[in-house]
Amino acid sequence: MKSLKHLFDENRGWAAKIEEEQPGFFETLSKAQAPEILWIGCADSRVPANEIINLPPGEVFVHRNIANVVVHTDLNCLSVIQYAVEVLKVKHIIVCGHYGCGGVAASMGDESFGLIDNWLRHIKDVYRFHAAELDGIEDQIARRDRLCELNVIEQVGNVCNTSIVQGAWKGGQSLHVHGWIYRLEDGLIRDMDVTTLGPDE
Ligand code: CO
Repeated sequence: MKSLKHLFDENRGWAAKIEEEQPGFFETLSKAQAPEILWIGCADSRVPANEIINLPPGEVFVHRNIANVVVHTDLNCLSVIQYAVEVLKVKHIIVCGHYGCGGVAASMGDESFGLIDNWLRHIKDVYRFHAAELDGIEDQIARRDRLCELNVIEQVGNVCNTSIVQGAWKGGQSLHVHGWIYRLEDGLIRDMDVTTLGPDE
């Protein structure tokens, strides 16, 4: 007996509905993908990339990890960026964080969570860079959410500084890097206004 049977039922219903609305959708999409967007977001179950921006399969190349961190030694993330930029030639990279991020919150405390502590170090670094501002915010929730914003800005910088993105810009490729933040409470995205179009910015 198949476990999670209801998910297979859901899947069949989903595929049938799309095929009914757009006959040949999957057949066509199976031949090639040409997404214009690379989404780098948090692994949080409440922040699903395609659903939030209401785009169907084929439109968004996605990388998600805890607290949407871009680390220069993370071969997984770098491989995704390289493939998206050099092969798929995406036009936009969106780093989308979210308020109320558990990873960001965990990085602010002294509690140990095991292996993930090493990952959260990267966010502790972001805190350290902005300690003067963050320490001045009395309210704990407000301080956490400001760190969520600063983390997005920091990761946008990390994306821009990768040799992959630098190389694309040098080669004249049109590539915009955006920093967005999503609010769990209302389902809305806010642009952090740090969109970067080239090395001069
Ligand atoms: Co999160």
